[in-house]
Amino acid sequence: MTTIPHEKPGEPNPLHALTLDRLRRRTSMKWRTYPEDVLPLWVAEMDVPLAEPVVRAVTEAMELGDTGYPAGSAYAEALAVFAGKRWDWDGLAVERTAIVPDVMLGVVEMLGLVTGHGDAVVVNPPVYPPFYDFVRHAGRVPVEAPLGADARINLDVLEETFRRVTTGRRRAAHLLCSPHNPTGTVHTADELTAVAALADRYGVRVVADEIHAPLVVGDTRFVPYLSVPGGERGLSLMSASKAWNLPGLKAALAVAGAGAADDLARMPEEVGHGASHVGVLAHTAALRDGIPWLDSLLTGLDANRRLLAGLLDAQLPAVRYRPGDATYLAWLDCRALGLGDDPAEVLLRHGRVALTSGLPFGTGGAGHARLNLAASPEVITEAVRRMAEAVGRAGAIRG
Ligand SMILES: Cc1ncc(COP(=O)(O)O)c(C=O)c1O
Repeated sequence: MTTIPHEKPGEPNPLHALTLDRLRRRTSMKWRTYPEDVLPLWVAEMDVPLAEPVVRAVTEAMELGDTGYPAGSAYAEALAVFAGKRWDWDGLAVERTAIVPDVMLGVVEMLGLVTGHGDAVVVNPPVYPPFYDFVRHAGRVPVEAPLGADARINLDVLEETFRRVTTGRRRAAHLLCSPHNPTGTVHTADELTAVAALADRYGVRVVADEIHAPLVVGDTRFVPYLSVPGGERGLSLMSASKAWNLPGLKAALAVAGAGAADDLARMPEEVGHGASHVGVLAHTAALRDGIPWLDSLLTGLDANRRLLAGLLDAQLPAVRYRPGDATYLAWLDCRALGLGDDPAEVLLRHGRVALTSGLPFGTGGAGHARLNLAASPEVITEAVRRMAEAVGRAGAIRG
């Protein structure tokens, strides 16, 4: 029988389970990029123990030596069942899925299927910085259609951008982040339907990165892009990676709508060999048996959102924070603090707290920083204390 290294056995909230000392023993990016005196709330890794079904699946694979290449459709089947239960969507067809190594490599593959070298890929900044890097890496050109001031897709700007990039009958794609990183915006069915209508009108192909889809809180409902009218020509990337903290166990799924099945079929089968078989087993177990764990996590994240809002109100009231309905990321508008374009750099230097700089998120990122809420309340409380102290120190130096 597998045991999970919970330090407080029976703790239902995984965000309460691990001490900082234990977390600092981790060797992943979040914990090894900065020196020990820095409190890390930056890259999207969570401070949680793994869900028990995931540990069990991986341990059994180790015991069996089941470490070959991935095979079969269990991952896609688990996702299809999850999509039915969670999003009331029964349109995820297992035969229109393919395993890819991870979401961003899947994005590159999908863009390769529906656009050509030098074509435009429309993104909605501020947005996950690798959207720019990977689009360029794929030989395409990122073109910005910024979100509105309400952090929602601005359909007028999107239409104007689609019109511009398709002039001369050029091919183009829209790389949609749904839910949106960093704002936590959950796009509504109406918004997605409008995006699909615009995409059809201008012949733009939509590639939806839906990695944060299981991380939607409260009564808000995640709407899969492929489920909206007109979404059939879309391609989606999904994964258990963000919601169950599995980015080191590489595996994701590309999902085609009915009108994009032929496109996905052109992807070489070998791309799937880049996924980790153990990763596939872990992701499958998470989606199939990890829902109670996910629900506890979501409850904890919701509490953390409220905690952060209260701490900022009390200690840094000039910071604007609008809690989103999804992801475990908080997008902080720090412009009124007077720390310049890169507040994260100042907070790190003067407060020894690591947030993600807003600058690489594109238009709308300057003066902002992204804070990772997937930590214990103690860590979040200490982070805000350090942030307030850093702002005081920076002010004293300026003054
Ligand atoms: C929107 C988005 N897409 C993709 C990724 C990375 O996913 P993967 O590691 O599967 O490439 C992240 C990670 O934070 C993300 O936020």
